[in-house]
Amino acid sequence: MSDFYERLKPWLFSQVAEELRYANCILDLGCGDCKLLRWLAETYGKSTIGVDISDLGFPPAGEGISCLRGDAQSLDFIGKGAIDAVLLFWSLHEMGDPLAVLQEARRVLHPLGEVLIIEFPRGSLAQKLWNETYYSVGEVANMLRETGFWRSEARLIVHRQLIWAKGFKGPRPKGVR
Ligand SMILES: C[S@@+](CC[C@H](N)C(=O)[O-])C[C@H]1O[C@@H](n2cnc3c(N)ncnc32)[C@H](O)[C@@H]1O
Repeated sequence: MSDFYERLKPWLFSQVAEELRYANCILDLGCGDCKLLRWLAETYGKSTIGVDISDLGFPPAGEGISCLRGDAQSLDFIGKGAIDAVLLFWSLHEMGDPLAVLQEARRVLHPLGEVLIIEFPRGSLAQKLWNETYYSVGEVANMLRETGFWRSEARLIVHRQLIWAKGFKGPRPKGVR
């Protein structure tokens, strides 16, 4: 049972790749060992940036991937509109000020860019395994709305054991279909 989430990773990675198929430059906040980014760079040729408060798990620099030590709440080293998609994979619950993180994510996103959050929900198996504090799906949806994301949605997947949430920087500029 303790490897339930680990065994989901290959499937989740493929879902992320499908969701972000049109994004070229992907930023992963709380990237840990950058495994997902490495896979996206190697398999799909994405240009990726990982940011984590700790560099302990960072891999050696590779093609298409750069890992930076930094706080996701303050991404002043990344320009406004520079990123096509921001990913938070099992990391939002660890960040002290999630609204500040989402505001920063929105700032660095391209006007057509997307944020994608994969999280453990409150009351899930993850909570029993690791006894951490997680958000409910409604709370994640509210955070996306509160920080101005457009067409945002949050839902439970995999027998209610994960949250899949996304939102767009939008609204779309005039003349763009
Ligand atoms: C549960 S781990 C998930 C790591 C990775 N996304 C994965 O799926 O394996 C959460 C990560 O968030 C990072 N983190 C926590 N607070 C952070 C912050 N304020 N800014 C950037 N990273 C942070 C932690 O150091 C940790 O690597």
